[in-house]
Formats: sequence, C-alpha cells, structure tokens
Amino acid sequence: MQIAVIGSGYVGLVTGACFAEFGVDVKEAVEQSLVIFLAVGTPPLEDGSADLQFVETVAQTIARYMNGYKVIVTKSTVPIGTGERLRRLIRENQLTKTNFGIVSNPEFLREGAAIDDFMRPDRIVIGSSDEEAIAIMRDLYRPLYLIETPILITSTEAAELSKYAANAFLATKISFINEIANLCDRIGCDVHDVARAMGMDRRIGNKFLHPGPGYGGSCFPKDTRALAAVAKEFGASSTIVDSVIEVNLRQRELMVAKIEGQVGHLEGKAVTILGLSFKPETDDMRDAPAVDIIKALQAKGALITAYDPVAMDEARKVFPDLKYSTDEYAAVNGADALIFITEWNQFRALDMERVRTLMRSPKIVDLRNIYKPAAMREMGFDYVGVGR
Ligand code: UDX
Repeated sequence: MQIAVIGSGYVGLVTGACFAEFGVDVKEAVEQSLVIFLAVGTPPLEDGSADLQFVETVAQTIARYMNGYKVIVTKSTVPIGTGERLRRLIRENQLTKTNFGIVSNPEFLREGAAIDDFMRPDRIVIGSSDEEAIAIMRDLYRPLYLIETPILITSTEAAELSKYAANAFLATKISFINEIANLCDRIGCDVHDVARAMGMDRRIGNKFLHPGPGYGGSCFPKDTRALAAVAKEFGASSTIVDSVIEVNLRQRELMVAKIEGQVGHLEGKAVTILGLSFKPETDDMRDAPAVDIIKALQAKGALITAYDPVAMDEARKVFPDLKYSTDEYAAVNGADALIFITEWNQFRALDMERVRTLMRSPKIVDLRNIYKPAAMREMGFDYVGVGR
C-alpha cells in the first residue's frame, strides 16, 4: 500500500519510518497514495488553542491533487471538530470530485521511546464514520493486530478528544503526586511510600506517580492548555485540568523556594545544575522545568554552572551565557549547591564522595529524588529531595 506522510517533525518521521518498516512504500506524491497522514505542527495560539494553519494549508493542497479515493488521516493532536473541518475544506478545494474518508488516528508516542511505542502500542485508536477508510486503516495496522494490539474504532470526535484526555489524565497524575509530595514535606514522611501504596491499587496503577519539578515537554503543557480551550469553546467546565496546569506552574516556583530554603541568600552563590532537558533520553528543552528554574535563580543573583549529557546545545539557544561544563565533576567544582533537575541514568551512580570533596559547601537539592536521603545525609551532605 502506498502511503504519504506530510510533516517531518517528530511524529511525521516516526510514522513514516515505522510504516515503511511494515513494508509500506512512503511516497510524497498525493496522486500515488491511498492513505495520506497529516503530521504537521499544531502550535499553541495565545489563548492555548491549537493553530491549524499548517493542517489547513496541507488539506487544501491535497484536495487539489486528489485523483481518486483517498483516506486523509490526522495524526497531529488537533482540536475537536478538525475532521469535519477538513472534510468541508477538501470538498471546497477539490478540482476533481472524488470520494474520500477522514480519519483521526492519534499518536501516543513518547519522546525517546517513539519507535518502541509505535511498534508496541497499548492500543490503536481509529476515529471515522467512513467504513472503507476504517477497513483500509485496519489493513495498514495489520502487523500490529498480529501481536494482539487492541484496535478501537470510534467516532472522529471521540478519537480527537481521546488524545487530549489521555495526556491530561497523565498530567493530572503528576500534579496530584506533586501536591501529595509537598504535603509529605510538611508532614515529614516519604512520598515514595505513599506513591507505592497508591500504585499497588490496580485501579490507580503505579505509573506517572513520580514527584518532581512538574511536567514539561512539547505535549503535556500544550495539550492540557488546549483541552481547557476546547472545554471553553464547547461551553463546558475544565476545573480539574485548570488546577493541573496551575499546580504544575506553582511546582516550579516551589522548587525555587526549596532551593532558596536550602542555600539561603542566592546572590553570588555558585549553583550547579545537573540535567536540563524536560526528561532523560532527549535533548528537548521545550517547556523544560529547568528553564523557569534557572531564570528564577539567575534573577536572584545565583551564578549558574550547568551540565547535561545531550541537551547543552539546545540549552545554549535559551541560555547562551550560562557556564556549561564538560562533565558532572567539573560542574560541581567549587559549588555552593548542587541541583538535580533531570534524572539521567548517568547521574544515578556518581562518585558522591568525590562530589562532596569538590563542592565548596555540600548542599544538594534533588528535584527528581535520584538519591536516598538517609545515605546522602550519612555521607555528610545537606540534602533535600521532593516530598521525602
Ligand atoms: C507524553 C505522553 O507520554 C505521550 O503518550 C504523548 O504522545 C506525548 O506526551 P513525552 O512528553 O515524551 O510523552 O514524555 P513523558 O515521558 O510522558 O513525560 C512527560 C513529562 O512528565 C516529563 O517532563 C516528565 O519528567 C514528567 N513526569 C512523568 C513526571 O514528572 N512524573 C512522572 O511520574 C512521569
């Protein structure tokens, strides 16, 4: 089967490459393809809603070149009703009137694990009202059906909403555990004990209950805001997702307060940041907690040295004047405080004796709870984590 993938961002590249792996030819030309995936960007507008200009421009182009039945599939996270909008737009712009099917087939790919998520997904969601399009999509995903991946057929709108709802729910789990962590800080108990006890309840599940500086990246911040905008558009309330967003933003401020509580007056203090990307295994700095935290620390006069195994080139675009180190040990040399912001594996087994001797003052603020508080205190560190 010939398919075309339009958009060569993260989702577009993964989609194209993975279908090619299933033995599908990826050709650019609309004329030659039966299925056309739209994986172009939907960046947020001022009000949090998604900007559809790229999707619409592409749809108009496809409409002009359509020479037979086509299935037009949205992969990008799009506002509810985009499928219908595309249908109208394509009809209006078709030069040759042919039938076509519209499908919403949201992706649930994680950065750094996208190929694996594509090849071994929890489910495939196919939203369409067109029987022929649904049959073609099933056929396309047949290699996954063989490994018993559930394929869920829904309306176009339900598929569109499921992407927002899934991401917002995961974001809710994170904001929830962050609030519990902050409460644990006050009570003086360990949030990991609480998270484990919660997570063993199969109705809750143990994933996405890791406390920290809040979620970042290109999806959760954008999709939670977009869901709130969708609710507003349809006259519904979005109380929970509004709170999730608020808690997430406040978490970053609380982390700065935590650092200040540990270090004292920040003016002129040498602060080392280990980890810059919004999560490990990526160099993505979009909406990374490190960005807000570093800005706040700088505003308070801290002198920052940073190290990240892969994200320093990206970080330089945001902070060209930061002092960047070649490795963890060079970064902590002479530091008044060490802050962990991203839980890279290579930070888990540092020679902490060496770290302590290199630091001017052995203060650690571990925003990802990489280390065990008791062990760190025993080694002579003045250590705080999140909710421990
Ligand atoms: C997410 C979704 O997981 C994916 O299904 C969707 O398609 C895109 O958005 P991604 O943004 O790549 O993927 O990263 P993810 O691993 O989900 O983490 C998102 C953020 O939440 C990161 O900043 C991470 O540090 C944070 N997080 C995650 C926590 O703070 N605690 C957790 O327990 C889990």
